[in-house]
Amino acid sequence: MKRMILFPLILLLSLCMMITVSAGTTTEAEQETPEAAADVLVIYFSATGTTKGVAEKIAALEEADLYEIVPAQAYSAEDLEYSNPESRATMEQNDPAVRPEIAGELPDLSQYETIYLGFPIWWGQEPRIMDNFVESVDLDSKTIIPFCTSGSSGIGESGANLEANAGSGTWKQGQRFPGDVSDEELKAWIEEMKGAGAMIMKIGDKTVDVTWEENESVEELKALAAQGLTISLSMYGGFEQVGSIGQAITRNDVQTTTDPGDIVLYAGDQLVVFYGHNSWAYTRLGRIDLSDVELTELLSGGDVTITLSVE
Ligand SMILES: Cc1cc2nc3c(=O)[nH]c(=O)nc-3n(C[C@H](O)[C@H](O)[C@H](O)COP(=O)(O)O)c2cc1C
Repeated sequence: MKRMILFPLILLLSLCMMITVSAGTTTEAEQETPEAAADVLVIYFSATGTTKGVAEKIAALEEADLYEIVPAQAYSAEDLEYSNPESRATMEQNDPAVRPEIAGELPDLSQYETIYLGFPIWWGQEPRIMDNFVESVDLDSKTIIPFCTSGSSGIGESGANLEANAGSGTWKQGQRFPGDVSDEELKAWIEEMKGAGAMIMKIGDKTVDVTWEENESVEELKALAAQGLTISLSMYGGFEQVGSIGQAITRNDVQTTTDPGDIVLYAGDQLVVFYGHNSWAYTRLGRIDLSDVELTELLSGGDVTITLSVE
């Protein structure tokens, strides 16, 4: 009798526990933010694994996706014998028109903005399969960052060759790494590639020297400039040109009296460039290094367009 009562009780308890676990799991799942799809892809070809190792490190540091260019016909040790003038790799490198076939499907690049492109140096150049690859995909509107590994040679003309063969994309100066490159060295290079270069301002066709502030707002403006930013400004009040950045960036407004040449952020999403004085709450962004006369000439003659880019 006792057993008959105990059994349904245990069953009920187990059911309660199962419901609690599954309810807990659901809540956790609901709280999880869906992972954003990577917009960086590391593509590499590696015959003996050295470039693969560097590519994997870059992908880990960048939280990027990886794609390996696999030759339809694998390179054997004899194929790679560079002391043999008749080896497959040497013969291929001697003929710039050779295009070794790629195995499998080419990657879908639509979700990616930045592509790291890695390869070994063969006879001072990119292996011909790399030429085949860049000619077979559409790199339009992508930023391509070439890198290579080698015994000792630099990247030489490889990046320029690939850029010419691709015919599209924005290509950065490539970099050679030894197979045992450290994460620190790669990190520093990645930062440099991401636009640690100077932010360049053009007013109309004229490039102007700017001393930029060191603050969060300038960092965010630079990130937008790295994608290419064009701002249409209008003359206002006889002392400034003002135009929308297109989106809000961090503001830390402080009551300010501006001088000619000052560049400030107004209301979080407006860029203002002064050729006169004004007092308002702004976030300082920088200062154009031109004389008052030059600034008046440049900014008081009608509306202007400003373009911002990163070197
Ligand atoms: C056919 C061939 C030619 C090579 N030519 C050069 C060269 O010109 N300069 C150099 O420093 N290393 C040269 N190497 C060495 C490779 O660039 C180096 O071992 C590279 O890191 C290999 O990368 P992987 O393991 O990703 O294939 C050559 C290797 C091969 C197989």
